[in-house]
Amino acid sequence: MLRSSVETATQSSQFGNICLMIDFAFRPYCNDDFQACIDIFDANCPEYLAVIERQDYEKFLEDPPKSYEVCEVGGQVIGVFGLSGDSKIEKRLDWIMVGTKAQGMGVGARIMERVIHQGRKSNTRKVGLATSQKVAPFFEKYGATTISITKDGWALGLDRVDMVLPL
Ligand SMILES: CC(C)(COP(=O)(O)OP(=O)(O)OC[C@H]1O[C@@H](n2cnc3c(N)ncnc32)[C@H](O)[C@@H]1OP(=O)(O)O)[C@@H](O)C(=O)NCCC(=O)NCCS
Repeated sequence: MLRSSVETATQSSQFGNICLMIDFAFRPYCNDDFQACIDIFDANCPEYLAVIERQDYEKFLEDPPKSYEVCEVGGQVIGVFGLSGDSKIEKRLDWIMVGTKAQGMGVGARIMERVIHQGRKSNTRKVGLATSQKVAPFFEKYGATTISITKDGWALGLDRVDMVLPL
């Protein structure tokens, strides 16, 4: 991996009186990341992601859009996401996930900053995404609004929530 294709950022996370400085590095997904990404999926399944989605994710990883990225800390993949789509006006946010052990430390926030930055840079007007009722409030924090809700759309107790994020 060329160093120039790695972008780093530092996040300060507050845990009680302890402040941790975490160095994130974003880089494009490569085939060697397959298992790490599947592990992140499995850790979030079935709480946030449905068992039936696993095959779809495996297929997605076999031929992911070039824009799919991983977020690393200390050489370990802890998050993934990607903006895809040929339309200049509208893009799609693909498979955004953070490993369960890294959740709550600001990784998702850094990913969303990056999504918004990348989208605006390419003059995208809106980003479509599909999530569940458990994570929809996370996307609302960044301005996304709900378009439709399908009760039990992913699995029993896990509704499908389609959202759009205007940029
Ligand atoms: C949703 C997800 C990406 C958030 O990542 P994270 O690293 O835990 O998020 P952060 O720690 O950066 O949190 C950023 C903010 O969002 C809030 N937040 C995080 N998850 C949330 C949720 N499920 N609902 C509401 N708010 C949430 C945090 O409290 C924090 O708020 P603050 O800025 O007021 O302190 C992560 O929980 C995840 O991977 N979930 C499972 C996979 C999934 O369902 N992905 C979406 C569809 S593919």
